[in-house]
Amino acid sequence: MNGMVNESPGGDLRLDGLTKRFGRITAVDGLDLTVAQGSFFALLGPSGCGKTTTLRAVAGLEEPTSGRVLLGDRDITRLRPHRRPVNTVFQSYALFPHLNVHENVAFGLRRRGIRSVDAEVARMLALVRLDGFGPRRPAQLSGGQQQRVALARALINQPQVLLLDEPLGALDLKLRRQMQVELKRLQIEVGTTFVQVTHDQEEAMTMADTVAVMNAGRIEQLGGPADIYEYPATAFVANFLGQSNLLAAEAAGPAGSEVPVTAHGARFSVPADRARADRGAVHLGVRPEKLHLAGTDAGLPAGHQHVAGVVTDASYVGVSTQYLVRTAWGGELSAFVANSGLGGQLPIGASVVAHWDPRHAFLLPREPGHGDRAAGRLDAPVGAAP
Ligand SMILES: Nc1ncnc2c1ncn2[C@@H]1O[C@H](COP(=O)(O)OP(=O)(O)O)[C@@H](O)[C@H]1O
Ligand SMILES: [Mg+2]
Repeated sequence: MNGMVNESPGGDLRLDGLTKRFGRITAVDGLDLTVAQGSFFALLGPSGCGKTTTLRAVAGLEEPTSGRVLLGDRDITRLRPHRRPVNTVFQSYALFPHLNVHENVAFGLRRRGIRSVDAEVARMLALVRLDGFGPRRPAQLSGGQQQRVALARALINQPQVLLLDEPLGALDLKLRRQMQVELKRLQIEVGTTFVQVTHDQEEAMTMADTVAVMNAGRIEQLGGPADIYEYPATAFVANFLGQSNLLAAEAAGPAGSEVPVTAHGARFSVPADRARADRGAVHLGVRPEKLHLAGTDAGLPAGHQHVAGVVTDASYVGVSTQYLVRTAWGGELSAFVANSGLGGQLPIGASVVAHWDPRHAFLLPREPGHGDRAAGRLDAPVGAAP
């Protein structure tokens, strides 16, 4: 154990065909993944998609059914957990209740037989902004403070990779937001690779350099938060990371730099570089905040495309009002209008024109037979002709 950190070469964390089955359940399904050294990486997905199992395989707490875990050029798949230069922080902080903060943080050093721990413990407590908290017991700390202690206790071991499994899940919303900023600062300061598991899309977006969106044991899309959000690869991603209006459409191949599509008898187009599919059954996607509402189709911004409809619902949520607009074909579109102080609220029943800049739209492949998908209603696809 002693000197472990120095013996280990640095490098990227790589998963190579990682698969884990529990009986007939495939929790992790042939994951290929590279996490760049020093990056903040988020594994984002709904409950049960295999996030924790993936982390546990990296930590050595779960033996893969097949595939490999590599750190740099070193295959650590069969290495015992305590031999791996990896530490884990869980949602439940799992601090030792009978030890004070100082001894909790010192634990990893003591276990390695290191006697003079004070300077290093003080450095770690300063890092997580808990200077002077050493003598306290965990029970005398708030949830956020306990989670900082858990971080200090992990980081004192100088792991190459810090694994965080829903580390902020037990905190209330406001504290969670604060800790998101803190964790990001901490990661930049220590430069350690952080792999964080979360089902909270906002958390993944605000903290991570790279987000992998996971669904049913596989990665559906991987990239920078803005890239994934602006140009989702699948209907799942389009509605797990934010929301999207997905219109059932037909495409007949690119025409120049555009892909023309037909949806519900109307013609639209999308730039070819925003088309994941350009032939046959597709979904035309527009995010609710990219959908603007006007009273008439006169004077729309140049190049905008539009659909007429009637406001059927308006939810005031402070920063924006979220409208539902029923179209002539019976589908519903979701539009978020910022409460910027310009323009008033639209009443229910108002006739509107929903318009968008095609450079913000995107095309996804669609399984034939699947209709529109209203934003935020992934599990209840709306039939094109109800
Ligand atoms: N020890 C286990 N035995 C049997 N099934 C398990 C075990 N651990 C996880 N699973 C199953 O594997 C799947 C993925 O679980 P998990 O990795 O915990 O998902 P997540 O962390 O994304 O919520 C789930 O269907 C879960 O029920
Ligand atoms: Mg989990």
